[in-house]
Amino acid sequence: MRGQTIAAPTGAGDPAEPDLTHHGDAEVGDGLVDLAVNVRRAPMPDWLADPLTAALGDLAAYPDPRPARAAVAGRHGRPPAEVLLTAGAAEGFVLIAQALRGARRPVVVHPQFTEPEAALRAAGHTVERVLLDPADGFRLDPARVPDDADLVMVGNPTNPTSVLHPADTLAALARPGRVLVVDEAFADTTTAPGVPGEPESLAARRDLPGLLVVRSLTKTWGLAGLRVGYLLGEPALLERLAAVQPLWAVSTPALAAAAACAGPEAVEAERAIAARLAADRDHLVARLAALPGVRVAGAPASAFVLIHLPGAAGVRESLRERGWAVRRGDTFPGLGPDWLRIAVRDPATTDAFIEVLAKILEA
Ligand SMILES: Cc1ncc(COP(=O)(O)O)c(C=O)c1O
Repeated sequence: MRGQTIAAPTGAGDPAEPDLTHHGDAEVGDGLVDLAVNVRRAPMPDWLADPLTAALGDLAAYPDPRPARAAVAGRHGRPPAEVLLTAGAAEGFVLIAQALRGARRPVVVHPQFTEPEAALRAAGHTVERVLLDPADGFRLDPARVPDDADLVMVGNPTNPTSVLHPADTLAALARPGRVLVVDEAFADTTTAPGVPGEPESLAARRDLPGLLVVRSLTKTWGLAGLRVGYLLGEPALLERLAAVQPLWAVSTPALAAAAACAGPEAVEAERAIAARLAADRDHLVARLAALPGVRVAGAPASAFVLIHLPGAAGVRESLRERGWAVRRGDTFPGLGPDWLRIAVRDPATTDAFIEVLAKILEA
């Protein structure tokens, strides 16, 4: 299997091809309990709400990214030239795809969030896929990525598998002549015993050639509607991406949020939220694992859990009829109709969900 990749189909409308533009937000609404979207919902802390609200008084001026850039750089131990603020991680993927049109062999490691591949295709790239094996817990073997791939995109922790790849494994993919994009949109949800910061994050690694780390403020801070994230990497590479970014792409309130979320109070709060999430996730995993036919994929490390369940597509419909929305798995390359992704919620919500799911499985 060494280096084997699969060419992604190019024709839109291919019935065998998953819909890369489908996202969890399309599965909620109609009063359903939302276990499909992985954005945390909680009251906004004052240290975030205050600057965000204050920024609304400043909207007559064009945005100035410099303070937020400096704050984000400080958080990750990098100089400001190694930070590019973006309108969410999603804009980062588009900038990468547009600026690196000259890439000869772009490879996307799947299953993963589908926008990186969608952005590449929209920019005219021919994309190859490396499909990780469920039987192997979606483990990433760097040897699966072709040596001459000059643009490689991988998620860590990965949506939808919730698998956290070891930093060393990802670092082994970096090399001169290759841009290695690591999507860390969910890195702030991860914890490990005895590790003070985010385990396996490459955000502070300045020694890896061609590394681009993609970050988002959407998930933990419930800011999906604000559109704010950033890229970390070598200044020359970021300059190429900035050259294709629309002017003033990140709004003044989004910049205020970026600066606030980079502060020590925010990082400490993030760690506490991640620890709570880990306990809630353990609860969800234990309850799921006790159900007949359900197999939890890999070793979940983020804000969601992927399960394999024969007939999952029908189970998802039954859940919807009973008021519960979970994320379908069949729109992710490398999965199919027998997979579901379930967001980690508080134990009471999990218990109520498991009760409904257990009844469906009994029927
Ligand atoms: C893995 C992953 N990366 C990036 C994004 C996009 O994040 P943002 O809201 O910052 O554009 C998402 C959103 O679902 C995601 O799941």
